[in-house]
Amino acid sequence: MKSKKQIRVGMVGYRLMGRAHSHAYRDFPFYFDSDTIPVLQAVAGRDEEGVKAAADKMGWASWETDWRRLIEREDIDLIDIVTPNNTHAEIVIAAAEAGKHVFCEKPLALSLDQAKQMLEAVKKAGVTHMVCHNYRFSPAVQFAKKLIEEGRLGKIYHIRATFLQDWLMDPDFPLIWRLRKEVSGGGTLGDLGAHIIDLARFLVGEFSEVVGMMETFIKKRPLGSMTDNLKGRIESDQRGEVTVDDATAFLAHFENGALGTFESSRFSRGNRAGNRFEINGEKGSLRWDMENLNNLQVYLADDEPGLQGFRTINCTEEEHPYAGSYWPSGHILGYEHTFINIVSELMNGISQGYSPQPNFEDGVKNQAVLEAVEESVQTRSWVGVSEKVHVLS
Ligand SMILES: NC(=O)c1ccc[n+]([C@@H]2O[C@H](COP(=O)([O-])OP(=O)(O)OC[C@H]3O[C@@H](n4cnc5c(N)ncnc54)[C@H](O)[C@@H]3O)[C@@H](O)[C@H]2O)c1
Repeated sequence: MKSKKQIRVGMVGYRLMGRAHSHAYRDFPFYFDSDTIPVLQAVAGRDEEGVKAAADKMGWASWETDWRRLIEREDIDLIDIVTPNNTHAEIVIAAAEAGKHVFCEKPLALSLDQAKQMLEAVKKAGVTHMVCHNYRFSPAVQFAKKLIEEGRLGKIYHIRATFLQDWLMDPDFPLIWRLRKEVSGGGTLGDLGAHIIDLARFLVGEFSEVVGMMETFIKKRPLGSMTDNLKGRIESDQRGEVTVDDATAFLAHFENGALGTFESSRFSRGNRAGNRFEINGEKGSLRWDMENLNNLQVYLADDEPGLQGFRTINCTEEEHPYAGSYWPSGHILGYEHTFINIVSELMNGISQGYSPQPNFEDGVKNQAVLEAVEESVQTRSWVGVSEKVHVLS
């Protein structure tokens, strides 16, 4: 039997995304017939007891209490970064300089300049790089892309996308890292907006200019930290200032003439993970909702009159990208499968020596939109996106 090529992973961080990525590495060989296999070699965290327990629970062979040690280790090929955003650049650049491939959580960086430095580092090192915009890898979203590429919608006129949550509405929810600009780079815009920006770039095309508005509804919160699954723990009687947005809305022009409206909020009561889009083209429309992620709603204008309407396609057939690797038709997939699918692309990229999309170039383009929206809020005017990324071409 031909032996599989092992990609030995070193993961930095081990909480929410640490669990999602660990699970994906473990399940990937179970479902995908690949000549490459990820090995859960080592996980790094700062707290010895915590990282040891995480390694045991999630199946990592060893652990370190300093991420720098992971990068020094010769038995690691890929560094996976699932830590808060202020740590991404330093870890990515050190990993690339040591010749390790990198898989980094989104948003790529704290700023556009930082993202460009990270791109330069991975290009210079010639390593494989990817950003974890996992929602692209839902079979229904991939099928939407296929329909658009086949011209089923014709010219695209509109995308309206939202990512709405409500877990932050309690004014006594603590001031976790996501609410401190120096750690997160941005609030709902960088956290949730980055995902819908990526979906829009994937499905519609490049942004040309944006104009936005943002609000921080609760200005001060008790000091505390993040626990698990978007929960927090209050650690002090003192309150600190929230330095990011609680909600952002923005309008966009795309280079191909399409119009976009985008909204990200953690103050949308009743919306737990309202990551949704609708795309309207001259010949049809598509709708997707992450809370019902197997289904794609499709409207085609050339359907027979009288029978026209949005049809619901359950994207679990062999014809739907990735779905054939799992279960029989109608046997639905979940959130975790988006990570297994992105890991399958990452493994291909490393084994064949390229950087599958979304890679760090996508990360930079995403960051340019984030920066343009923030600038437009500050200047109360439209801000161009294309010129911010022109150095890439
Ligand atoms: N792709 C997605 O859908 C998605 C979802 C949630 C979060 N994210 C992104 O994933 C990243 C992590 O988010 P999370 O929700 O898992 O955060 P989290 O707070 O649940 O976990 C962060 C982890 O990083 C560790 N950590 C913090 N600073 C560190 C350091 N200096 N060295 C080593 N470890 C450190 C923490 O101890 C913890 O294990 C962020 O960039 C976030 O934006 C992506």
